[in-house]
Amino acid sequence: MIASNGRLKIALQKSGRLTDESLALLRSCGLEFEFQKQSLYSPCRNFALDVLALRDDDIPEYVQDGVADLGIVGENVVAERGARVKTLNRLGFGGCRLMLSVPVRSSIRSLARLRGKRIATTYPNTLKRFLRSHKLRCEVVELSGAVELAPTLDVADAICDIVSTGTTARVNGLRPLLTVLESESLLVANPAALADKRKRALVDRLLIRISGSLQARGKRYIMLNAPVSAIPRLKKIIPALKSPTIVPLAEEGMVALHSVIAEDVFWDVMEQLKSAGASGIIVVPIETIIQ
Ligand code: PRP
Ligand code: ZN
Repeated sequence: MIASNGRLKIALQKSGRLTDESLALLRSCGLEFEFQKQSLYSPCRNFALDVLALRDDDIPEYVQDGVADLGIVGENVVAERGARVKTLNRLGFGGCRLMLSVPVRSSIRSLARLRGKRIATTYPNTLKRFLRSHKLRCEVVELSGAVELAPTLDVADAICDIVSTGTTARVNGLRPLLTVLESESLLVANPAALADKRKRALVDRLLIRISGSLQARGKRYIMLNAPVSAIPRLKKIIPALKSPTIVPLAEEGMVALHSVIAEDVFWDVMEQLKSAGASGIIVVPIETIIQ
C-alpha cells in the first residue's frame, strides 16, 4: 500500500497512446522525475507529487477511490467506467473517436442496418447507452481486447472501438460507420482530495503550471523590426496582436515589435509581415504563459 504522506498522487497511463504526452505535459510544468513503466511509483524531486503508472482503464476508479488524487485519462475511459471524478481541465491531446465499424465488404451501410447484429467492444456501457438512445437492439459482445479481430474470427458483424489515426481499422479491413463518442484526454480529480486544504493547495499550484503550459501550446513569440509608419499595417496582420510591445530602436524612425502568434498561421503571417515592411523577424518557442 502507498503511504498517505501528504504528497499528491497523479496517475498516468503506463504505456499507450497518452503516455508520452502526459509525461511531456508534467515535464513542461518543471516537474522532475524518472519514469519507468515497470515501476508503479515515481516520486517528483522538486514538487510534493508522486507519479503512478497505471493501466488507463483503471485510472477513473483509482481516482474515484482516492488511490490517486489526480489522473490523466481519456474521456472515453471516464465515460465508460462512470466513475465519480471531477474534470479539472481538458488537455487537448489524445484526440480520438469511439466508432462503430464494419468489415469493408459488409453490406451494412447505416446504423439502422445494425439491428439484431453482433457488435464486439471493450466499451459495453457506452455502446449500450448509445444503442438504447437510438432504440436499436443489438447483441453486444464484450471483449477485453483485440476487438478489431472479432469480425475475422466471426464473433461479431461490427465492432465499436477507439479510432485515432485509423491505422488499426485500415490494416484490419474495417470501414468506419459512425462516431459514438468523441474524446480527448482529461485531468480528473478525486473530489475528497479537492476538499482537503493541504492537497487543494498543491492541486492549485499544479493547475497554474498546467494552464500555463496549455496556454503556451501552439504559440510562438515573435520579434521584428519595422519603420514606425508600418505599425498600423503590422497590427492588422498579426491576429494575436491586441497590444504588442513596441520599443524604439537606436535608429531614428524604427521600432522593435514583440508579440505572441499562433504557430499554425505563422508562415502565412510572416510573408505578409515582410511585405508590410518588417525585417529581422525572430520567432522563439514559449514555455509557459501565466495570466
Ligand atoms: C485503441 C484501439 C486501437 C487503437 C486505434 O486502443 O483499441 O487499438 O487505439 O488507434 P489507431 O486508429 O491510431 O490505429 P487504446 O489506445 O485505447 O488502448 P487500449 O485499448 O490498449 O487501452
Ligand atoms: Zn486501455
